[in-house]
Amino acid sequence: HKRLSPFPKDFLWGSASAAYQVEGAWDKDGKGPSVWDEFVRIPGTTFKETNGDVAVDHYHRYKEDVALMAEQGLKAYRFSIAWSRVLPTGRGEINEQGLQFYDDLIDELIAHNIKPVVTLYHWDIPQGLQDAYGGWESRQIIEDFTTYAAILFERFNGRVHHWVTLNEQNVFISHGYQLAYHPPGVSDEKRMYNANHNANLANASAINKFRELGTSGKIGPSFAYGPNYAIDAHPKNELAALNAEEFNANFWMDIYVWGEYPKAIFHWLEEQGWAPEILPGDTELLKKGKPDFMGVNYYRTMTNAFNPIDGVGHGKMNTTGEKGTSEEKGVPGLFKIQDNPYLEKTNWDWEIDPTGLRIGLRRIASRYRLPILITENGLGEYDSLTDDKEIHDEYRIDYLRQHSLAIQEAITDGVEMLGYCTWSFTDLLSWLNGYQKRYGFVYVDREENDEKELKRYKKDSFYWYQKTIKENGANL
Ligand code: BG6
Repeated sequence: HKRLSPFPKDFLWGSASAAYQVEGAWDKDGKGPSVWDEFVRIPGTTFKETNGDVAVDHYHRYKEDVALMAEQGLKAYRFSIAWSRVLPTGRGEINEQGLQFYDDLIDELIAHNIKPVVTLYHWDIPQGLQDAYGGWESRQIIEDFTTYAAILFERFNGRVHHWVTLNEQNVFISHGYQLAYHPPGVSDEKRMYNANHNANLANASAINKFRELGTSGKIGPSFAYGPNYAIDAHPKNELAALNAEEFNANFWMDIYVWGEYPKAIFHWLEEQGWAPEILPGDTELLKKGKPDFMGVNYYRTMTNAFNPIDGVGHGKMNTTGEKGTSEEKGVPGLFKIQDNPYLEKTNWDWEIDPTGLRIGLRRIASRYRLPILITENGLGEYDSLTDDKEIHDEYRIDYLRQHSLAIQEAITDGVEMLGYCTWSFTDLLSWLNGYQKRYGFVYVDREENDEKELKRYKKDSFYWYQKTIKENGANL
């Protein structure tokens, strides 16, 4: 431990959430429906048919939640803005009451010395845009997303210094257009890669707008990154791991930073007939929209082996948000996913791998030469409330301590780290897993079909993080 570098003085010890998962008030004060408001009403899409209509009622209880953040000593709070609260159909007239909610939340955070980290988009595209032109499948989204982003840049300039454009583009695109677990529930690779290309363009265009407007602060995407390993040193397995890394990770991050797709993967997509159409001007736009930092959501790593051309899998992507399943997965001709014999898994089958975080941070830092903000990392587990209303989540403390240490090791290695936003501050709705899979420092007493009183209770991990922040991570 002696040789570890300290955390930077202004390191952002933070925590995170997303609008749909915490706010509730799904149709209050002029908010329009998002695709999630509609999708959760289709039977069978979510665990026990749970929805975010009320969620943890953060919309009405944000002051209580911010007071808890202040008590913990949080330096930053990452949250997302619901596009359809600000623009009910996605474009046109601003809904001032919706915008005012975020204005108040930002002021409340600042009054408590907590830096707001604002995510422009965490998966809840307005249903109005989905109905009008198929949302991400149309190039019209580039202009509409940029206009929406500009409203936020202008309103919150000077108060917000960290901006996140798209949350986990790799997840919302693959889940929405290939695996069909998320809205719009499509399973079509050609459409998926087209929607993904539009999302890339929208991301770059919003970053360019940010600069044009002279907005202060830093901006970047949040990417769901799970480094890929080879199962062993057999050269074909090493090649599989390289394929997986380019297919699952560099395919997005190269675009963000360099405006170009990895050649081997693009070529492979062309062979399948799935490559997106790149129009004149696209590459220039993408190259110009370079982020200031890479936001990383880290939960797990992936281990890969050789997969012949007639091998397992259906060309499906493997990303961090995917539901656990024992079915063999992979992309024929590129790689297949294997169990890693060295790693334990959570109750939701996600590998626990703090060293993987250090490896991931190192890979990003050396390939892209950008500072990194961890925008999510945490442990989803069942928690239980004792009769004395306590939650002894030592498993979460252990997880967060090990991952904090991995960040400190990466800092020691020379990686420029801006901060660590854990997932999540309060318990919240897990998109597909209801309220039983808990991530928070603060327990929220509600179940899938029983809101109870939505009371908040501090878990043991709340106090552990409080101490860690106070000591600036000195005694991990
Ligand atoms: C990330 C998302 O994919 O992982 C979060 O950005 C999400 O919104 C988190 O909640 C954990 O996933 P899950 O499926 O356990 O809720």
